[in-house]
Amino acid sequence: MAPLPPPGGPDWYKDAIFYQLHVKTFCDSDGDGIGDFRGLTGKLDYIRDLGVTCLWLLPMYPSPFRDDGYDIADYCSIHPGYGSMDDFRAFLDAAHVRGMRVITELVLNHTSDQHQWFKEARSSRDHPRRDWYVWSDSDDRYPGVRIIFTDTERSNWAWDPVTKQYYWHRFFSHQPDLNFENPAVREEIWNVMKFWLDVGVDGFRVDAVPYLIEREGTSCENLPETHDVLKFLRRRLDEHYTSKVLLAEANQWPEDVRHYFGDNDEFHMAFHFPLMPRMFMALRLEDRKPLVEIVERTPPIPDSCQWGIFLRNHDELTLEMVTEVERDYMYEEYARDPVARINVGIRRRLAPLLEGDRRRIELMNGLLMSLPGSPFMYYGDEIGMGDNIYLGDRNGVRTPMQWNGGWNGGFSSADPERLAQPVISNALYGYQAVNVESQRRADHSLLNWTRRLIQARKSSPVFSRGSISFLKPVNHRVLAYLRALDREQVLVVCNLASTAQAVQLDLSEQAGALPIEMFGKSVFPRIGTSPYVLTLGPYEFFWFKLRRL
Ligand code: BGC
Repeated sequence: MAPLPPPGGPDWYKDAIFYQLHVKTFCDSDGDGIGDFRGLTGKLDYIRDLGVTCLWLLPMYPSPFRDDGYDIADYCSIHPGYGSMDDFRAFLDAAHVRGMRVITELVLNHTSDQHQWFKEARSSRDHPRRDWYVWSDSDDRYPGVRIIFTDTERSNWAWDPVTKQYYWHRFFSHQPDLNFENPAVREEIWNVMKFWLDVGVDGFRVDAVPYLIEREGTSCENLPETHDVLKFLRRRLDEHYTSKVLLAEANQWPEDVRHYFGDNDEFHMAFHFPLMPRMFMALRLEDRKPLVEIVERTPPIPDSCQWGIFLRNHDELTLEMVTEVERDYMYEEYARDPVARINVGIRRRLAPLLEGDRRRIELMNGLLMSLPGSPFMYYGDEIGMGDNIYLGDRNGVRTPMQWNGGWNGGFSSADPERLAQPVISNALYGYQAVNVESQRRADHSLLNWTRRLIQARKSSPVFSRGSISFLKPVNHRVLAYLRALDREQVLVVCNLASTAQAVQLDLSEQAGALPIEMFGKSVFPRIGTSPYVLTLGPYEFFWFKLRRL
């Protein structure tokens, strides 16, 4: 019998530490140059020991890989290079046994043009499957709808020479959008969900949700009819399963994303996209303003819902949810080399973005683990892996995990030429310099530091479930906030500047409390009624538990 999923209430995702990884580039067990489920299963202890409680897998389905698997050719099987269905089941059981859950990708907006459904749909205008996609005689319907992959696509319509009509696609032209007006499509997507839920997955990261329905005269994003589709899927989920999670990828402003939680009848979680670039912006500007503004502008969400927050992921660091001036600033500061830019964003990993500066990497991770929401870590960032901006598309941030200083960084025994992606081998970020094995041995490595950070986060539920209120000291280079839940309070103070700073905090409401620094357990002077003075070194941050009398 399959092991039971790990303990935790139905809203387990609120306390989860997520870790996103690509099976393809994590660990190759059979030496064919492609990562696989057996390889990943062998690394589960590593992921558990880091403190992770839920894995998010990039698409693992058969695919022509023209969008690294987000172009799905068959929803209900495993890409043969990654192993068999039995391998997947064994992996899932092994994760559950270790107390970790697993969520997978649900790419519902579009399929690959190699999917059987599309092959049938494009075979003739009369085929019963025709209406599963969105067709038009002209390419001028839905004018003004923005193009997402601006570097590759010129239109959201593509010509089908066989049936002599255009089909609609919001992403690559080889990814035709499904037609969610058609109830059969909704049913089929539900069947796909059901299939994987019955296999035992704990939920889905649902790809590209704002674009399901098209309407003339609109941006074709966030339409009420799209929400109806999502509510339908959630209703079905609730009717048949408990303790599963739906996580929305909706790269939109907080006011618009708010609707994806609905009245607790749509998504349990949604990524907070606009927060991410503002964390980087605040750091570069040495000013808390962009970060505080976006958090304060974020509307409250239903009790059982949760934000997902992140620093980096498998895509470009998206700059869609910033103003033009902010975008120029981000490009100038974080991607002076034009090769690092792609679409509306920056294709770099965390460590290179922060110029390998350990203090800044720690500070950003400190924010990730203490701002409201559940943190999503991106594989390899826990050891400070680098990237390869010359690899094309977004592949430069999807290179093999660096396990040790040996052959192919321990990822695979294949000839290097055969690897699914080349390993990073430069002097600064190459596997000889940056790898799990060496960082495991060094007490103060980024890896071991990250493990301690996660432990500290887990030591108090204020981080996952508490409220946030910002202190606004005169020194705007210092970011300070209180996280509170019932009688428990944690004070977070961060120096966003490259120089030492002093700050006076108004903590009169906390007068009498004793701040205990959470990493070293040192006791700081008791808070009184006059301003509380702290000094912080460059990029330094503190987490204090406030102990009441
Ligand atoms: C994924 C991308 C993918 C796109 C199209 C996204 O939002 O994160 O990696 O290219 O959807 O499926």
